[in-house]
Amino acid sequence: MKKILITGGAGYIGSHTAVALVNAGFEPIIIDNFSNSNKSALIGIETILGKALKCYEGDCNDKALMQRIFAENQFEGVIHFAAYKAVGESTQLPLKYYTNNIDSLLILLETMVDFGVKELVFSSSCTVYGQPDILPVSEETPRQEAESPYGNTKKICEDILRDYIKSGIASRVISLRYFNPVGAHPSGEIGELPLGVPNNLVPFITQTAVGIREKLTVFGSDYDTPDGSCIRDYIHVMDLADAHVKALEYLFRQKDNFYDLFNVGTGKGNTVLEVIKTFEKVSGKPLNYHIGPRRPGDIEKVWANTDKINKVLGWQAQYSLEDSLRDSWNWQQKLGERE
Ligand code: WQD
Repeated sequence: MKKILITGGAGYIGSHTAVALVNAGFEPIIIDNFSNSNKSALIGIETILGKALKCYEGDCNDKALMQRIFAENQFEGVIHFAAYKAVGESTQLPLKYYTNNIDSLLILLETMVDFGVKELVFSSSCTVYGQPDILPVSEETPRQEAESPYGNTKKICEDILRDYIKSGIASRVISLRYFNPVGAHPSGEIGELPLGVPNNLVPFITQTAVGIREKLTVFGSDYDTPDGSCIRDYIHVMDLADAHVKALEYLFRQKDNFYDLFNVGTGKGNTVLEVIKTFEKVSGKPLNYHIGPRRPGDIEKVWANTDKINKVLGWQAQYSLEDSLRDSWNWQQKLGERE
C-alpha cells in the first residue's frame, strides 16, 4: 500500500482527503501543527474509517522533524496542504505568511529530494487569478497581481514548483487551484472548524443559523451581477478530496519529469444571495442577514472553466450547492451536539 504524507492533514481539506485516500487504497500519514486545526479531526477520521491514521504533531518548517518522518516512512507521494490561509490576516502579518507558506514548501522539496520521493500534489488557489477578464476562468489565463500576501504566497509557490521541475529533476508535481471549498463529510464526523469569527461565507451562515452569530452581513449588493452580490464557485470538499486522489493517481502514471496545474471547481457560479436562499431551503430556517458595505479586497465574480481537469484527470464535481449546504448544516448541528 503506497504511503502518502499529508501535510496539514488534520485540516479541513486535508482530513477529507485523508479519508478519500484510504478509500482509494493508499496509506495516508499526517503531519500537522494544529495551528489551524483540531485533534478532534483525527477522531472524526477514525470514526469514519474504523481505524486511526498515523499522525505526527509538528511543523513542516522543522527540517529535523521532516528528515525523521521521511526516514521512518518510505513515502511514495506527498500532498501539501499545510499553510496559513486567512486572506485578511495575511495583509496584517505578511512576514508570517511568506515565512511559513514558502519555507515549508522549500523544506518539503529538499526533504523529498533527500529521500527520493518524486510525487507531489500542491494546494493552490483560484485567488492567483485575481479578477479575471474572461469567465469562466481557465488555467491559461494569466495570473493577476495577488490581492493579498496569502494569494502571493500561492503564486510564488507555483513558480517555485514550475522552476523545480524545469531544472529537469526526476519529480512529478501537480498544483490544484481550488475555488471556494464548502460542505462537510456527509457523516458529520469531519468538517470546517474555523478558529474564532469565520472569514468565509458558509461557516458564517451555519453559525448564524445555529445562533452562535447574531446575523450575517452580505458584503455588498451593488456589484455587476444578477442580484448585485458577488459570484463564487462553491465546490464540495468531498469533490475536492476526490480531485487530489485522481491527481495523485495520474502522477504515478507520468514520465519522470512532469508539472501541470488544474482548476478545481464546479464550473458554475452562485451569488451570495443565492447561497443564502439555498441554505434557507435545505435547512428550513430563515437566515438573519442584512446588506452591508463591500469588503475590501473582494473580487466581483469568478468561477472555473473545468474542461482541463474533466478531460485529463477524468474528474468532475458530483455534489451540488444544495448538497454542500446540507452537509455544512448537518456538520454545524453535530458540532453543537458535541459541545
Ligand atoms: C465568499 C463571498 C464575500 C463572508 C477566500 C480566499 C480563497 C479561499 C476561500 C483559502 C464573497 C461574501 C463572506 C461574510 C459575505 N481561501 N461574504 N459575508 O473571499 O471568495 O475566498 O476563501 O484557500 O483563497 O480568497 O471566500 O467565503 O470569504 O467569501 O458576504 O460574512 O461571500 O464578500 O463575495 P473568498 P469567502
